[in-house]
Amino acid sequence: MLVIAHRGASGEYPENTKIAFEQAIAQQADGIELDIQFHTETGTWWLMHDLYVDKTTNGQGQLQTLPHAQLAMLRTNDNQPILQLAQALKVINGACSVNIEVKIANGNANELAQIAKHLIDELHLVVKQGIYDWPHLLISSFNHGFLAALKQQQQTLAIGALIAHCPYELAASAQLLNAKSINPSIDCLNKELVDDAHQRGLAVWVYTVDRPQDIAFCAEIGVDAIFTNYPARTQQYLQTL
Ligand code: G3P
Ligand code: CA
Repeated sequence: MLVIAHRGASGEYPENTKIAFEQAIAQQADGIELDIQFHTETGTWWLMHDLYVDKTTNGQGQLQTLPHAQLAMLRTNDNQPILQLAQALKVINGACSVNIEVKIANGNANELAQIAKHLIDELHLVVKQGIYDWPHLLISSFNHGFLAALKQQQQTLAIGALIAHCPYELAASAQLLNAKSINPSIDCLNKELVDDAHQRGLAVWVYTVDRPQDIAFCAEIGVDAIFTNYPARTQQYLQTL
């Protein structure tokens, strides 16, 4: 079972930051998950989980509404600038796999397709450098319309269908999206869902798994990867099972 550092080693370091990624690598995480948002005004991608910058920076307001100059001035809780996507990928530099979660509101198909194109273009530059290839950049989102738009434009891109609840038809709809994985919450995980996904050729990546009993349960029912805020202690615990 793979151990994916959720927003980096975010249990001990500020989430979605350079230090959190460096520490995740040092703690032997198999992969790093990070959150990005699109800044429409500038066509740029920024690392941020919340819609508002207030929790993780010294600024205030919704990321989307802040002008570029102000975004560039923001400092995270460890007094660093917020990373943009290309910068984050440079920090990780192929040391482990990457799961990019796109936080994006529902929009009409045209809007989603345009934003998907921005992301594909940005990732093309990264892929060209030879550090990552399309199948190893897992792009996930709760917005499955956006995932469909991505897949339409770049067939070889791996996508993960995130879900906050687990309807029984979940794996079937992820299969229609031609996803690599379903990414359900630990709160609704069960063996039937895992077995159904596997029968359909889908991997199961579960968030957010920090408690020993949850780690053990995921391992027992055949989950493929877990997102954890504590990669070091999760790896250690897995050794004891
Ligand atoms: O990608 C798994 C997980 O990160 C999804 O939820 O809210 O932590 O982004 P959230
Ligand atoms: Ca996330």
